[in-house]
Amino acid sequence: MSNAIKGPFIVTGASGQLGSQVIENLLAQGGEPLVAITRTPEKLAALRARGVDVRAGDFNDPTTLGKAFAGGGRLLIISTDDLEPGKRLAAHRNAIAAAQEAGISHIVYTSLTNPDESSPITFAADHRESEALIKQTGIPHTILRNCLYADLLLMSGAQAIGTGALYAAAGDGKAGYVTRADCARAAAAALLSETGSTLRDITGPEAVGHAEIAAILSQVAGKEMGVDKTWGSSSSLRSVLR
Ligand SMILES: NC(=O)c1ccc[n+]([C@@H]2O[C@H](COP(=O)([O-])OP(=O)(O)OC[C@H]3O[C@@H](n4cnc5c(N)ncnc54)[C@H](OP(=O)(O)O)[C@@H]3O)[C@@H](O)[C@H]2O)c1
Repeated sequence: MSNAIKGPFIVTGASGQLGSQVIENLLAQGGEPLVAITRTPEKLAALRARGVDVRAGDFNDPTTLGKAFAGGGRLLIISTDDLEPGKRLAAHRNAIAAAQEAGISHIVYTSLTNPDESSPITFAADHRESEALIKQTGIPHTILRNCLYADLLLMSGAQAIGTGALYAAAGDGKAGYVTRADCARAAAAALLSETGSTLRDITGPEAVGHAEIAAILSQVAGKEMGVDKTWGSSSSLRSVLR
């Protein structure tokens, strides 16, 4: 590794789709010592065999986090996938408190684009309040506000190619979709090189709407398809279920 920043580099959510890619980026760039935190260490036996220090840690159980973060270092907190109201923020609060207790020197956190009070996204408050808790610790930090994963379009994309229409409740809304792979590169780079406290928007190169996504899918599939922006209306639902 060419920079002077020292580990250990600690990655939570290490068995997840994003966390596993962050770990591969760190390994490729000599980001060691490397600690992988997961609720299911047995799933990461292959990583352990490659020299990664795999430790158990569950944000819902603060008693596991002292050992998980022991020794300090630079910590990536991957936001959890628990959308039950109140649970995710409580879990993040546990992780942030344990980071402070363990003497973590830099926190990287995966947030969401524009999680401010005006956000119509129901779970934006989890990210807004997690960001605030991190700031309150006084620990240098990097907030990565990841935009929507482009990878998720593959799920609706396959259905669109099958039915000939892309269903979306987004109206004319646009997003700067970004791949998980790019989010993972950004997180690894932040762990390896960021100093001080920074807030970064992690997005794709341009904002695209569903009409443009349908055009791309048409090109890929070699078949014309349109967008049904009334998705969620009873007539739209009926047309799909028929
Ligand atoms: N930008 C977007 O479009 C978008 C879309 C979906 C989700 N997200 C967010 O991005 C995160 C990472 O995405 P992903 O695709 O990697 O999701 P994923 O594959 O479903 O992984 C979810 C991660 O959350 C961790 N986790 C869940 N509960 C936990 C707990 N109690 N304590 C510690 N860790 C816990 C899991 O870690 P272990 O299983 O290893 O313990 C796992 O790595 C998601 O969790 C979610 O917050 C963003």
